[in-house]
Amino acid sequence: MDISIATKGDNVKLSEDKKSVILIDQTKLPNSLEYITVQTPGDLYNAIFELKVRGAPAIGIAAAYGIYVLARQIEADNYEDFLAEFREQKDYINSSRPTAVNLSWALNRMEQLVTANSDKSRAEILALLEKECVSIHEEDIAMCLAISEYGLTLIKDGDGILTHCNAGPLATSKYGTALGPLLLGKERGMDFRVFADETRPLLQGARLTTYELFHAGIDVTLICDNMASLVMKNGWINACFIGCDRIAANGDTANKIGSSAVAILAKHYGIPFYVLGPTSTIDMNCQTGDDIEIELRDPGEISEKYYVKPMAQVGVKCYNPAFDVTDHSLITGIVTEKGICRPPYSESIVALFK
Ligand code: MRU
Repeated sequence: MDISIATKGDNVKLSEDKKSVILIDQTKLPNSLEYITVQTPGDLYNAIFELKVRGAPAIGIAAAYGIYVLARQIEADNYEDFLAEFREQKDYINSSRPTAVNLSWALNRMEQLVTANSDKSRAEILALLEKECVSIHEEDIAMCLAISEYGLTLIKDGDGILTHCNAGPLATSKYGTALGPLLLGKERGMDFRVFADETRPLLQGARLTTYELFHAGIDVTLICDNMASLVMKNGWINACFIGCDRIAANGDTANKIGSSAVAILAKHYGIPFYVLGPTSTIDMNCQTGDDIEIELRDPGEISEKYYVKPMAQVGVKCYNPAFDVTDHSLITGIVTEKGICRPPYSESIVALFK
């Protein structure tokens, strides 16, 4: 059994010379484990937009390291010019994907450091930025571990868990959120039977979740998204664990397209449905899920991608939203690094930040 592949957490890192970010290219998995080097604004934008790095927390970590690498390249003579160029890069990177709040959250943290230190030299500001992106990464590792511990209290040895998309180490820093309790439990000698939705159209469940769990020695079974109802009806699922891209103040949760369908099914079959994510994924500026922008992606991801030849009538209209919002009324609990929120979320989420 090799748990290290799934938990070692080197999917996003700063190069030793600090001139680039090194990422596992998640689009190449599970067939080949390849690393890419990101050095320019275009490299970073494309890596995020094309899902070479994906998963809300991992996007935030990559953006933080990336904006540090880009800040080192700014050749401004004075603070005002440095700040203006920093903001231009930040806005560009922030526009790469709209739904996962961790992207703007991490970039804002980096920017605040620049604006709060206008009296410092360029070298001093760069040193602070380096410290901040390392902190963002280290904090995520600690948050994932805490989420994993809390999540583990919700399940017992032998349980069947259904998960959607990929919220494992690749999507975060280490352990992951939705997969974290399963990997941690496995390290402690527990066994789970996991059903992984393939997660159309980009197959994060098939390509990434099965890869991580299989290498960790966890009993994982791949199912098509439309099989979730049957495995629930068969009595094979004790709980659903999913990640999140943005949680509104009332608990409505945006996650990979299809998550809300899993929640609706879980309610029908009386199965608890848990969202697992760090508090950096909570956006108190969004009152409800209606305030969350849902990313629309290329129609070709549905009609052609991963097929040898097109599998839909050429020219047919395709609707390809990348995320949907699960209504808070369908969520049994939201597992964060600070504890497990229960309904009413408008109260328990506010309490997290006190
Ligand atoms: O489009 P993706 O692959 O970035 O979507 C990822 C998800 O929806 C994950 O479930 C979410 O980001 C949580 S990752 C811990």
